[in-house]
Amino acid sequence: MINWSLNTQTILASLSIGLLVYYVIRRIRYRLPPGPWCIPLVGHYQIYSSVEIHKKVAELSKKYGPVVRLSFGYNTWIFLNENDVVIEALVKKKADFAGRPKFSSDDAFSDGGRDIVFSTYSPTWKLHRKIAGKALRHYLQGDLLENMIQDNMDKFLNKMAQEKEPFAFKNYVDLMVFHQLYTICFGEKRPIDDPEVKALLTLDEELITYLGAGFLEDLFPYLKDILPTAKWKKFLIMLDQLSDVLRAKYKEHVDTFEPGVNRDFIDSLLMARQEAKNEGDESALEKLDDRHLIQTISDIFLAGVDTTRFTMDWFIYFMTRFPELETKCQEEIDRVVGSEHPSMKHRNNLDYTEACLFETLRLGGVAGLGVPHMTMCDSQVGGYDIPKGTTVIINHWALHHDPKFFKDPEKFDPYRYLDENGKMKPSRPDSWLPFSAGRRVCLGETVAKPELLLMCANLLQRFEIRLPIGVKPNPNFRQLGFGTELPPEYKIIVRERNES
Ligand code: HEM
Repeated sequence: MINWSLNTQTILASLSIGLLVYYVIRRIRYRLPPGPWCIPLVGHYQIYSSVEIHKKVAELSKKYGPVVRLSFGYNTWIFLNENDVVIEALVKKKADFAGRPKFSSDDAFSDGGRDIVFSTYSPTWKLHRKIAGKALRHYLQGDLLENMIQDNMDKFLNKMAQEKEPFAFKNYVDLMVFHQLYTICFGEKRPIDDPEVKALLTLDEELITYLGAGFLEDLFPYLKDILPTAKWKKFLIMLDQLSDVLRAKYKEHVDTFEPGVNRDFIDSLLMARQEAKNEGDESALEKLDDRHLIQTISDIFLAGVDTTRFTMDWFIYFMTRFPELETKCQEEIDRVVGSEHPSMKHRNNLDYTEACLFETLRLGGVAGLGVPHMTMCDSQVGGYDIPKGTTVIINHWALHHDPKFFKDPEKFDPYRYLDENGKMKPSRPDSWLPFSAGRRVCLGETVAKPELLLMCANLLQRFEIRLPIGVKPNPNFRQLGFGTELPPEYKIIVRERNES
């Protein structure tokens, strides 16, 4: 008994001394960024678990400067809160900050980092990003994207037109965007009340709520092996359900694939594999296995769906909150598009509508803390050392509320992006980075921008959209977690604009 307690004491004392020596060496070797004091190992758990983590960190940066260091569990996280340091890290330092940290939840979500979003900077990631980028660009050729959007939107707008009572726009836009990505990825056009699409949307909603709130298993990874939380177990069940759907869709495509015939995004991936086979490129073929390709599909589907549907919900929220801006967009749409369908050829002349969309992307923080980065080597930012393997978070919310770049940052003001002739300025305010920057910049940006604009123009061309009579706009945003903000729940009424 005495021996046992002596041994325990000795082990604990050795561990504490070991940790102390580690921290002292680290502090001497590196000039780390500043941050508030915390209890070792527990760290700043209160900040981590807050749904307003983005705002709390932005507040801390007023005291500690643009680079803030916080501890979560035994991990050190660095938050970048101003444009200069973000550009220094993501662009000027090339690939130094292009890695991804390994979190239990992301790892489970991506079948062990076999996707693009969560896999670290490596030749495999590069190859998959290149192939997926090429597959997405396919939709920008000719009128493929605009026809798909038009066809899909017509169905939903016709149904919206039949609504007699105030209704939640969210119920429409979620399905609208889901169906769109469904057609891009799986090549199928489903009826708007299709149960399979609805079930997938429900699953996605549950998954992002779980991911947004974070897992104890991300801070203490060994928990998942010895004592997983109930939340973690439920999360794994949901992931299995999602992967069953994706695997089935993928298999259907493999079984019916005809070289040279490109039906959709999955076929584009299979064509890339076919090309590697034809060229005898063994190194590429090794990386293009089924598990990796299924994860790429999952990435495009989920990264594309949630950001797009949330942004559309924000856009209509702002239009109903500021009806005079909606009227200005409609005047522009009537002038530029007339009674035609909004299409890519109108894009360059829809300046005011596009400026409203850009302001929506700034204020409607659909990716407030982005996706965590990780340093690939010892590096520096803002005059501080950032050791290899450190998690680095881009606080997009702080960038988008920086008064140095956005006067009166809480104000919705499309004129920030327009010149004196009402045309879009050639460049955006430096601190406007909804799609991030550098090696890891959003892969879907070139598709997302025209897709969003065409959807907005379609909606406003057809309907006058208002809050129900007597209802005042609610300015209180909802917090989904990890910096993602959503508009308050709101209902709208729509009136056909071409009715006399
Ligand atoms: C409103 C629309 C969107 C916003 C605001 C947005 C924002 C972002 C942000 C902030 C990142 C993280 C970048 C970083 O790590 O620094 C990201 C990554 C990514 N996005 Fe988007 N996104 C949008 C739409 C889309 C769409 C439509 C797709 C696909 C069709 C897409 C695919 C991706 C992928 C694959 C990545 C991972 C890139 C990588 O890790 O290399 N996104 N996005």
